[in-house]
Amino acid sequence: MTDIIEFLKKEGVSSDLLEGVSAFRAAYPADGEKQEGRVPLTDILYYGKKVWEEALAALLAGKNLLLCGPKATGKNVLADDLASCFHRPAWNISFHISMDASWLIGADTFDGNRVVFRPGPVWLCAKEGGFGILDEVNMARNEALAVLHSALDHRRMIDVPGYEKIDVHPAARFIGTMNYGYAGTRDLNEALSSRFVILQMPTISETDLERLLAARFPGMKGKIRSQFAEISERALDLRGLLDAIALTEKGIKAGDALEMCVVNKTFDKYERSLIRDVIGARIPADLGRNEIFG
Ligand SMILES: Nc1ncnc2c1ncn2[C@@H]1O[C@H](COP(=O)(O)OP(=O)(O)OP(=O)(O)O)[C@@H](O)[C@H]1O
Ligand SMILES: [Mg+2]
Repeated sequence: MTDIIEFLKKEGVSSDLLEGVSAFRAAYPADGEKQEGRVPLTDILYYGKKVWEEALAALLAGKNLLLCGPKATGKNVLADDLASCFHRPAWNISFHISMDASWLIGADTFDGNRVVFRPGPVWLCAKEGGFGILDEVNMARNEALAVLHSALDHRRMIDVPGYEKIDVHPAARFIGTMNYGYAGTRDLNEALSSRFVILQMPTISETDLERLLAARFPGMKGKIRSQFAEISERALDLRGLLDAIALTEKGIKAGDALEMCVVNKTFDKYERSLIRDVIGARIPADLGRNEIFG
């Protein structure tokens, strides 16, 4: 496992912020095996110094963070890395249209003998001082989200009729992620968005992408790496690009791998041919494993 603080030092992240993180970790060490087991591993690192500094500053200031941006801009990678950097247990909570407040906070259930409270992920996270990753937070209905208001603002408490009132632990933070701008995405209502510090996630820079490729595919030839980095510049889905490279490593030709992982993700025939042209101009379709990896 990579030591994330060492990584951030090398990235040139401000030493003031990193000292702040160390002080936070000393003040709130993960408590016991159960919490340790929830601290995410840092096998995928987020590249982007400015975003790191802004995110660390917001969390050190006690704020909650909303990561907004197009698909595959590293929102979940960063959210996990942040929990790992602060060394706090994380709860990954996928938001969806049919969730309600009791799904987040918890509900009374009958255990065969008596009625007991079965806590939900937001309740647990608040109580244990965890990092709650509210994934695709905009996908839930406003009524379900309303229970988060008092947890996310200066009140830092959860007070829902019929439940025990609890204070949000001082180490707890909430990190929302949301997509926008394509079919099926929704806006987040203002009552909720005003309770977050909002980061617009940039697409990875070409230099950082080359570093990412070098780290993830150490055997890849330098020149080919640059060619792949270049096509991603053209607003192609980075997740698909990484998948395609992984398939070429298994012996699929570059053209077919890119077809499966990038081109076929578009369901419009005309757009598909445009993407195919962008790729074809930079990566010969018949490149195979031996040409890509040295
Ligand atoms: N700046 C970056 N640093 C490191 N990895 C990145 C970066 N941007 C994108 N990636 C890579 O892109 C892939 C997708 O990342 P992730 O799942 O975090 O994206 P996301 O923004 O949550 O996407 P979605 O909106 O589709 O859920 C991962 O392989 C991740 O490593
Ligand atoms: Mg995501």
